[in-house]
Amino acid sequence: MTTARACTRPAAYSLTLSLSLFAASLPALLSAPAWASGEGEKNAKVTATPAPSPVSGAAGEVNIYSYREPGLIQPLMDAFSKKTGIKTNVVYAKDGLIERIKAEGANSPADVLLAVDIGRLTEAKESGITQTIKTEEVDEHIPAAYRDPDGAWVGLSQRARVVFASKERVKQDSITYAELADPKWKGKICMRSGQHTYNVGLLAAIIAHDGEEKAAKWAEGVKNNLARKPAGGDRDQVKAIYAGECDIAVGNTYYMAAMETSDKPEQQEWAKSVKLLFPDSAGNGTHVNISGAVLAKNAPHKDAGMQLIDYLASPEAQKIYAEQVNEYPLDPAVAVSERVKAWGTLKPDALPLLDVAKNRKAASEIMDKVGFDQGPGA
Ligand SMILES: [Fe+2]
Repeated sequence: MTTARACTRPAAYSLTLSLSLFAASLPALLSAPAWASGEGEKNAKVTATPAPSPVSGAAGEVNIYSYREPGLIQPLMDAFSKKTGIKTNVVYAKDGLIERIKAEGANSPADVLLAVDIGRLTEAKESGITQTIKTEEVDEHIPAAYRDPDGAWVGLSQRARVVFASKERVKQDSITYAELADPKWKGKICMRSGQHTYNVGLLAAIIAHDGEEKAAKWAEGVKNNLARKPAGGDRDQVKAIYAGECDIAVGNTYYMAAMETSDKPEQQEWAKSVKLLFPDSAGNGTHVNISGAVLAKNAPHKDAGMQLIDYLASPEAQKIYAEQVNEYPLDPAVAVSERVKAWGTLKPDALPLLDVAKNRKAASEIMDKVGFDQGPGA
């Protein structure tokens, strides 16, 4: 029932765009470097297939703009279509979707925006492209802490930013974020760009807890401990541990599952070389962030868009987030997957997500100031 499908080749995925819906900006999308270092860190192969029907006011379809990669989103779209009979048309892109909805204005075909990170969800709200989400289904299943107070966005899944440590070379079984700045790790840490959303979010949380001055010292300390200049995605840092270039890395939980279940045998080997430590389990708790959804201000299929958001908040979809995406469901009644459970217990940092969002700008400036991306010794 969907016009956008994940590639049948397991090693890659393709993006299928609904030409009739999105012809106007197709060239821009096709030339975009899809997911070179984003959500899924795979290189997406982009293909376009003509869609069966032009844009219309029909309630039987819903248009989604997604920052999240097809491999993660398609199982949810397929299940939604199967349940409701509503067709999903998905545009996938790593960047620029909020700007695009804004530029399209009243004529935007977007009904729902799927995004990762509290920073992006608040950006969508601030850009004025949202309308209020208020339904019993969402309120019943998603705790208020994971919803915008004004209903501009709703969280759907959660991930933790953890430490991957070499099983061979790291003996300790617990760690704190503060410790990452300890000179004892000099030359032993690998991390992706300090300006990447995930690291900006982590530093923003540290600012919220300890203030800017301490956070800057921390960022500088971690930078001085880096084994190499930041490059690649979270998985590349684990690869570097496997290769002996560093002993610990910082990354998001679901990448562990992605490597463990990868059809690339080498990624399974990377995963086997590390153990996963939940920083600050004995203190503030581990830094977490969310993925979420926005109902577009000018949604042409508003009812279908709401139905989709309701569905994504429902226990059925929350279970898909848990079992197939290996994220932490936000519905407290839905259990994490056995795979995720095996990593240990997550004690999420209780810091309000809006406190993370509001410190992002300061965090990004600190990363620049300490020259994080220039690497050690710079
Ligand atoms: Fe990611």
